[in-house]
Amino acid sequence: MTQTQTQPVPPSPSGPERLLEVRDLHVEFRTREGVAKAVNGVSLDVAEGETLAVLGESGSGKSVTAQAVMGILDTPPGRVTGGRILFEGRDLLALREEERRSVRGARMAMIFQDALSALNPVLSVGYQLGEMFRVHRGSSRKEARERAVELMERVRIPAARTRVDDYPHQFSGGMRQRIMIAMALALEPRLIIADEPTTALDVTVQAQVMELLADLQREFRMGLILITHDLGVVADVADEIVVMYAGRVVESAPVRELYRAPAHPYTKGLLDSIPRLDQKGQQLDAVKGLPPSLLRIPPGCGFHPRCPVARPLCHADEPPLYEVGRGRASACHFWEELLDAE
Ligand SMILES: Nc1ncnc2c1ncn2[C@@H]1O[C@H](COP(=O)(O)OP(=O)(O)OP(=O)(O)O)[C@@H](O)[C@H]1O
Ligand code: SF4
Ligand SMILES: [Mg+2]
Repeated sequence: MTQTQTQPVPPSPSGPERLLEVRDLHVEFRTREGVAKAVNGVSLDVAEGETLAVLGESGSGKSVTAQAVMGILDTPPGRVTGGRILFEGRDLLALREEERRSVRGARMAMIFQDALSALNPVLSVGYQLGEMFRVHRGSSRKEARERAVELMERVRIPAARTRVDDYPHQFSGGMRQRIMIAMALALEPRLIIADEPTTALDVTVQAQVMELLADLQREFRMGLILITHDLGVVADVADEIVVMYAGRVVESAPVRELYRAPAHPYTKGLLDSIPRLDQKGQQLDAVKGLPPSLLRIPPGCGFHPRCPVARPLCHADEPPLYEVGRGRASACHFWEELLDAE
């Protein structure tokens, strides 16, 4: 995986096939207060069978990036104002809404944080799972129900056959999250985007749901974009990572390398804030200061008001995403000093 800012899409390298190539994506929200620049030139790649973690504080543009890829942006006020989203070689932004809809669900699917609001409360889970097969595959009611039971078994819901007619509220939070994973997997998509899939669960259940998701991803060789605040989860399951700040990618790298030697002061701040990387449930809240308003991102490096090593250059010059190693990039003018210090 590589990240570049504005270059044309390079030909696919040998190795696992690239599923998703996001290039220089821009998303704005026109609000009464002004234009919020939520995503400002994000590029990222996901290959088959790869897990890409997206990390960053609240408001850094993680969900908006995911929504733009899925084609479920809140429009208006949101709008993609630039960039390209290539998925399985197709430019998603050039598709008509009905074509986009057929990609969504069948080829890429999303798992949200809150299963209770994503599932319909007045329909049984079996009906909702079965609907995927009835609508998209033309299955009969009986077939669809059978597939729903299979899916529930696949996501390890105990006594699936006897629970298929239960309603969402009759399941625990962890089980509901499994049902949402089942829903996402139903049509065997190639890419899953999981937006903080375990945040609402308690810590032991989080680990079980995450393990399930990681197992299924390996089994189906899907690409997975995992948006999370949890550095422990990232260390366990991700291959690559992008760190976002104020709508930009500020660092990208293979996970191990980034943990060993971060090349951006923001990433370093996040990592320094946790005593142990394998500790679960760690939140990203320990970098001093607040993120900037997206209505007024500071000039120069957007991180400079909070950066412990900022210099005059940082106030004026916006750092590009420097290539700092094989498959690694950092948007800090002084990345070399950081890597040398490790
Ligand atoms: N529907 C909306 N209307 C207006 N602005 C929005 C809307 N959705 C997102 N934004 C803007 O985009 C910014 C980024 O939002 P996003 O949801 O991507 O953050 P995030 O990184 O996912 O944060 P969190 O970790 O809290 O989920 C928000 O701070 C807000 O300014
Ligand atoms: S460019 Fe300057 S302000 Fe930005 S992260 Fe690097 S040192 Fe800090
Ligand atoms: Mg979010």
